[in-house]
Amino acid sequence: MPRLIADRPVLRTTSDLTQVMAAAKAREAAGERVLHLERGEPDFDTPPHIVEALAAAARAGETHYPDPRGSLALREALVAKLARENGVACHPDDVVVTDGGTHALYMAFQCLLSPGDELLVLSPHWMAIPKLVGLAHGARHRALPAYLELDRGDLTPAGFADLLRASLGPETRGIYVNTPNNPTGVVLSRAQLAAIAEVAVERDLWVVSDEAYEHLLFDGARHVSLASLPGMAERTVSVYTLSKTYAMTGWRIGYVVSPPGLRPVMGPLLSFYTTHGVFPAAQSAALAAVTGPQDAVETMRRAYEARRDALLAGLDGQDAVCVPKPRGAFYVFADVSAARGERTIWDLVQEWLAFGVAVLPGTAFGPAHGDRVRMSLATRHEDVVEAARRLKERYAARAAAR
Ligand SMILES: Cc1ncc(COP(=O)(O)O)c(C=O)c1O
Repeated sequence: MPRLIADRPVLRTTSDLTQVMAAAKAREAAGERVLHLERGEPDFDTPPHIVEALAAAARAGETHYPDPRGSLALREALVAKLARENGVACHPDDVVVTDGGTHALYMAFQCLLSPGDELLVLSPHWMAIPKLVGLAHGARHRALPAYLELDRGDLTPAGFADLLRASLGPETRGIYVNTPNNPTGVVLSRAQLAAIAEVAVERDLWVVSDEAYEHLLFDGARHVSLASLPGMAERTVSVYTLSKTYAMTGWRIGYVVSPPGLRPVMGPLLSFYTTHGVFPAAQSAALAAVTGPQDAVETMRRAYEARRDALLAGLDGQDAVCVPKPRGAFYVFADVSAARGERTIWDLVQEWLAFGVAVLPGTAFGPAHGDRVRMSLATRHEDVVEAARRLKERYAARAAAR
């Protein structure tokens, strides 16, 4: 009998998110109410003018094979946006419209990693990263805890540069960085990014800069794009998506910006032979999103900020779930070591599920994070408030009993 699944380690991995969602679904099927703080998907609908643009473009016949690089009109608009908002100067030929940020990352790793290469992944990191690296034949990743240490000030920018230097091996070809960060909500400063740039230039490394949450910033935090730093444009592949900013997760539209040296590979090979580009009418809608009114983006950003504040306020007065204040994205990465005790983080996730609070274990974001859970704010405000109430009820009562 032929073996059905190829003998590649990545094809034997499982997804923590799928497991938690399945467990939550089973409880809902049994009639329980579950508060979904496990998913990283905006609960808002896509703004209506974007939906209208799709309908108009489809009616106008934008239904044929696309240019696998993306439409020139959209790429030109993205070039203008990158110059205006990100401080990144590039040519439309260096922008490829992708099937979401995930496909942009897939293409980046396929293009940059050879068999035997290692990618240094700052952690905690988005859970798809190890799988996307694993899909690049013979490549592997190594997680380097950094965001929480930088945020707490335990690592200065100079100390961070030294840590990076010490962490590089002979096989390390590049670094993956994600700011604002999923799952911590940490927003790296210019000085912290400059430390990465310094080491990347010194050791001739490339960097993949994942900026999926670039517009989700709180308390006046500023987003800095790594490619805008001196010497970085020629060694940075930047990844963006419309999924989070415009509540367009189902549309599958992102883009990747790379140095001119990658032109022959990114569009003509990787995009052409994986998806052959993005539905043309959806690209016209993306053009409407990027060039049209941005007030819906601000409304959603404020809503996430209000939910963050509501969660923090709701958990005030107990000390089993410690929530550092995120400055971006829409997650909190709570320290639950006191609540977990001697058990595993999965035990705690199951316990929380039993009283209707679905979250992801910190280990989904790197092996060093078994003291944490990720709670998503991309769910209804009242559900965030109710989750905080349930948690506080549980742990304030425990504290009183001690
Ligand atoms: C850090 C990060 N990068 C990229 C993505 C990809 O998003 P999408 O493929 O929906 O554009 C996500 C989605 O959760 C993410 O969290």
